[in-house]
Amino acid sequence: MNQDELKALVGQAALQYVVEGEIVGVGTGSTVNKFIEALAAMKGRIPGAVSSSNASTERLEAIGIPVFDANDVGEIAVYIDGADEIDPHGNMIKGGGAALTREKIVAAQSRRFVCIADESKQVPVLGRFPVPVEVIPMATQRVIRQFAALGGTARVRLKEGRPLVTDNGQHILDVAGLAIAQPLEFESRVSQWPGVVTVGVFAHQKAAVCLLGTAGGVRTLQY
Ligand code: 5RP
Repeated sequence: MNQDELKALVGQAALQYVVEGEIVGVGTGSTVNKFIEALAAMKGRIPGAVSSSNASTERLEAIGIPVFDANDVGEIAVYIDGADEIDPHGNMIKGGGAALTREKIVAAQSRRFVCIADESKQVPVLGRFPVPVEVIPMATQRVIRQFAALGGTARVRLKEGRPLVTDNGQHILDVAGLAIAQPLEFESRVSQWPGVVTVGVFAHQKAAVCLLGTAGGVRTLQY
């Protein structure tokens, strides 16, 4: 199976975690796009979704699933999303699709985070994938220096030669060269730096379950 087929496999497998009659939290990315395609089969059996990006909202609405504002709903039963990396404890790096802030908000509002990923995302220690960090643009250079002091090399993410602008109107730094052995401590620390909107380490909002797409089928990991 190629990577695309593995993503489709876990996207389909995630349906078993969607609670009938309840709103589902929906992440962002190519794996989640497969989940959204599969979710069409449950249309009418769920009231709708809370979405983590404009891109996912468009896809959900295109298949007729109502999208609610997070402020208009209470606790969400389950949040389904992908990851750029996941460690053996369910801590993740996220934000490869620049949606990390809304992803963390919806994850925090949800009882259970179900991560869907192909097996290439499994790592012993987070940090091989550059850590995405959403920043207020005027803080960019100072935050880059703060990461340099930790041994990281941060670059502004570009789109068509200009800084990418997120759904929240901010910029993204991608920070390479970090080995994040203490994800909870790292997330807490970086989150306090002035100008950091969200750091793409999800340790406080880690996965409860990971559906991992492998050549042998879907492996279910619990944390
Ligand atoms: C988007 C994310 C995605 O979940 C992450 O980048 C994985 O994406 P994909 O499923 O395309 O590999 O965090 O901000």
